[in-house]
Amino acid sequence: MSSGGNASSLPLVGGLPEPTIKELSKPGRRSFNYPALDVPEENIEHEAIKTEKAPLPEVSEHDLVMHFSRLAHRNFAVDLGFYPLGSCTMKYNPRFADWVASLPGFSNTHPATPSKFSQGSLEILNVLEEYLIEITGMDFASFQPPAGASGELTGLLIIKRYLENNGFDEKTNIIVPDSAHGTNPASAKMAGFNVVEVATDINGLVDVNELKTLVNEKTAGLMLTNPNTGGLFEEDILEISSIIHDAGGLLYYDGANLNAIVGVSRPGDMGFDIVHSNLHKTFATPHGGGGPGSGPVAVKEYLKEYLPGPIVKKVNDTYEWYQPQFSIGRMHGYHGNFLVALRALAYMKLLGKEGLDNLGSYAVLNARYLASVLSKTLPLAYAKPCMHEFVATVKELKKSHKIKAYDVGKAMLDKGFHSPTIYFPLIIEEALMFEPTETQSVDTLDDLAHSISLIIEDLKDNNQNLSNYPKNLPVGRPNELIPAKHLTVNWGDFELLEITE
Ligand SMILES: Cc1ncc(COP(=O)(O)O)c(C=O)c1O
Repeated sequence: MSSGGNASSLPLVGGLPEPTIKELSKPGRRSFNYPALDVPEENIEHEAIKTEKAPLPEVSEHDLVMHFSRLAHRNFAVDLGFYPLGSCTMKYNPRFADWVASLPGFSNTHPATPSKFSQGSLEILNVLEEYLIEITGMDFASFQPPAGASGELTGLLIIKRYLENNGFDEKTNIIVPDSAHGTNPASAKMAGFNVVEVATDINGLVDVNELKTLVNEKTAGLMLTNPNTGGLFEEDILEISSIIHDAGGLLYYDGANLNAIVGVSRPGDMGFDIVHSNLHKTFATPHGGGGPGSGPVAVKEYLKEYLPGPIVKKVNDTYEWYQPQFSIGRMHGYHGNFLVALRALAYMKLLGKEGLDNLGSYAVLNARYLASVLSKTLPLAYAKPCMHEFVATVKELKKSHKIKAYDVGKAMLDKGFHSPTIYFPLIIEEALMFEPTETQSVDTLDDLAHSISLIIEDLKDNNQNLSNYPKNLPVGRPNELIPAKHLTVNWGDFELLEITE
């Protein structure tokens, strides 16, 4: 391993290291001029007033713009290239939705504005609630949770409060498939439940026979995403839902994979009692480090009074805030991330009914096309036709040529593609999970499949290339373990460590 302690010695691959904004600083340079004072100057004297100047970087406007533009160009983005990151739905988010969210009437409204002065914003939430209810097959929704994981915790706290209120204190177990996203068991644990794992069968679906043996009087509920994390539709969902309901448990739908079924099927019709939607994946806000998200939770009528409040209620022709009677309490300040909700509504209006009806079908069509072309190079983990994403594996290539999923993902970066999700779901060895989404053209899908076939040929022929990729990017293979174990967010202490083996 090699290491570097400051910017100038960072072991960046291909390209000069970018100085930090502090290193660019020269005394007296400015990017900003204050407007002329238009009130009498006051000398405020107080012990809390700082006497020395804040050590802020001093740079000209042009240097500042160039610095951050250069950094931005070093990032991979949905707007730059294909981003087939499975489970993350990295689709194109139209500028139109951003434009709507930037309208001052919405973006400048303080969330504490009384409802009689913010009727338009309340109407947005009310209409979006109606759309989400229609799409998911539920009855009421709260927009407070700011992410999918927060939606999961919200749903589980609702299950807990509902069971307690109805005298089912013995119900302490939440069943979670072994293929689930890590946030599922983590949310169940945070809400105070025990996690019981149910296995996936050889076809990639919940093992219903095992489920029957795990369900008992302690069962509080089941968390499931459908299609599941292997990209397969849980076709026994109606039987699964009866098994859980017959035991007095509730069904929670992890809406991370809603993109596959929008316009085709609805969690509410499958028997789910609580659903979160990832507005930041399915409806026009990017998922990941790109900003705040929104994971609204929708429930069947009998759970309405448990939602985090306040929620919007329409009374005659006006909109009011309503506090549900047994509410689990707040999951976020005010009403959640309103502008993300607004983007989602703008996106739905832009697509219209026809566009929304086709959304899931096109996402599945793209994934099936890519799976079929790519399967000539990489074996797929399951034989069943996939939904909006699929998992390939280099398990055999690892045995024969030492090629790992990690190597393929890194080599893809050099070809101008983001890596697929690797090593997830955990139950599939050397997994590469692709999710093309409905917004990629067939030409891009073909390019990706062709590039991967070249990568595999290259890695097979030139074994020494295995750990060399990416060769043309500013950062090669940073050590992912050390930052996870020793989080350091100060630049001065930052070490970029490269894996050499
Ligand atoms: C299957 C699944 N469940 C839950 C989540 C958590 O969602 P979030 O990142 O919005 O918290 C994700 C994230 O992508 C996911 O893929």
